[in-house]
Amino acid sequence: MYKVISNDKLGPNVHRLVVSAPRVAKARRAGQFVIVRKEEGAERIPLTIGDADPQAGTITLFIQAVGAGTKRIVATPAGESLRDVAGPLGLPTHLEKWGNVACIGGGVGTAVLYPLAKALAEEGNKVYTVIGARSAEQVILADELAEFSEKVFIATEDGSEGRKGLVTVVLEEMLSGDLPRPDAVFAVGPVPMMAAVAEMTRLRQGFGGQARQAAIPTIVSLNAIMIDGTGMCGGCRVTVGGETKFTCVDGPEFDAHQVDFDGLRNRLGMYREQEAAALKECKLAKQLDEIEEAE
Ligand code: NAD
Ligand code: FES
Repeated sequence: MYKVISNDKLGPNVHRLVVSAPRVAKARRAGQFVIVRKEEGAERIPLTIGDADPQAGTITLFIQAVGAGTKRIVATPAGESLRDVAGPLGLPTHLEKWGNVACIGGGVGTAVLYPLAKALAEEGNKVYTVIGARSAEQVILADELAEFSEKVFIATEDGSEGRKGLVTVVLEEMLSGDLPRPDAVFAVGPVPMMAAVAEMTRLRQGFGGQARQAAIPTIVSLNAIMIDGTGMCGGCRVTVGGETKFTCVDGPEFDAHQVDFDGLRNRLGMYREQEAAALKECKLAKQLDEIEEAE
């Protein structure tokens, strides 16, 4: 059993859980994840390890409660326990000293971005963080990211905080030289966002097919559907550079310019009906939604 030490709400449906998991806290490296089960027989939920304190023996998990499984996990108060926390799983982030690195987080993907950005800064890179959200109340972890970023840029779709628009508004300013030009880009968020970032950092062609701007190495962290998390079931497969890869053991980070984002989007939508049915049947999820609406 893994005791929940604290459970804070960061934004609408987004929680930060600090969980006692001493072995994971000691072994984990940036970019890795765990698979969590609330109780025996419960859905297995893959969650990025946001941070860890090996001395205290704790890990931090950021969770967006959208389905029945995640809603049950965030309903665990401090003092109660989670049945399983299996990990650390996946390959750690490939760290090198790139120079200027743009770290781009879309919505709750910002939570997955946090450990990568922190590790890149510790490696000696200048981290320029971009957080995109629909509106100010959905912006998460801006203060925490500011602790090690050269600068944090915020873009909201309704203009309630920072620039008005999508994260790509800020990336465009970086690519055009109005802001420091990145030597590498890390992007985590909704699939259309990661696809849009990848398109912008590919080799751009000028007149007569001449390269106008060099391609910028771009890494994305993929949130494929996972079951076992050990490369056995094939549930998390993605096509990267024309080859089938398993997100859980070959990733979750991949070269954005090689990822088949359309295939990923299709696979993520495969169980939408079953997910909706599970949510409808979950009494706890209904209670939590009522509390959320009342707030
Ligand atoms: P959202 O839909 O509110 O989008 C957040 C921000 O992403 C937007 O405000 C915008 O700045 C950017 N964005 C979205 N679409 C874009 C596009 N087409 N072009 C450029 N920028 C775009 O996100 P949310 O509801 O907070 O997050 C939910 C999504 O994030 C889900 O799809 C979830 O699966 C995904 N997610 C991904 C990861 C991962 O590891 N890649 C982790 C957590 C969540
Ligand atoms: Fe089963 Fe990756 S989750 S192969």
